[in-house]
Amino acid sequence: PERCVVAVDGPSGSGKSTVSRRLATVVDGVYLDTGAMYRAVTWAVLQGGADLTDPDAITKIALETELSIGTDPLAPHFAANGVPVDGPIRGAEVTAAVSAVAAVPAVRKHLVILQQAIIGAHPRIVVEGRDIASVVAPDADLKVYLTASAAARAQRRSAEDATDVVATRADLARRDHLDSSRAADPLRQASDAVEVDTTGMGIDEVVAYLLKLLNSKV
Ligand code: C5P
Repeated sequence: PERCVVAVDGPSGSGKSTVSRRLATVVDGVYLDTGAMYRAVTWAVLQGGADLTDPDAITKIALETELSIGTDPLAPHFAANGVPVDGPIRGAEVTAAVSAVAAVPAVRKHLVILQQAIIGAHPRIVVEGRDIASVVAPDADLKVYLTASAAARAQRRSAEDATDVVATRADLARRDHLDSSRAADPLRQASDAVEVDTTGMGIDEVVAYLLKLLNSKV
């Protein structure tokens, strides 16, 4: 397709990143990982020593942080204030704090504006997150809500990170709860999103299915 915006939402470990990157590559488009944006801001908030229960302190740092946002689906590198953060944003400290930072409405407002500018600048883009179909790109050509069983999600994530599957499952459940229960733009399936349960599906299978859906829309 000449132009296409694809929104991929869903809980942690549903396969969003792997599938979104592959789909972006296949349509010769770019990839935007909005979770990495919340993670990079969280990294800066932790560096700044802000109190995680103080929304004003978090907001101040979020607005001052200069993000470099990589959109190459094969190498989506991020930096914050000139510091490469691809490693640290996947670390336990950032993962433990990110849902608190992402719950601050002013932080979301700021990042959504950046996200919409990036989407506007690229004719073909796959955007993954929690609120893409509902808030960031309500006019997306295709809206996908990826799910998988809690066991499958924990298994995938622990295989990726070489972490304990039981601890990973508990962490995913904790973040899902925080992300779904927050007041500002909670995780939920948009009414016009296609739900794809990837439990027991391979990556190729999911990507092929999404391509079929996309071709039927654009
Ligand atoms: O997708 P990922 O697990 O990297 O996202 C990290 C966190 O960022 C999520 O747990 C959620 O709190 C937040 N997030 C969000 N809205 C998005 C993307 C991520 O609130 N669009």
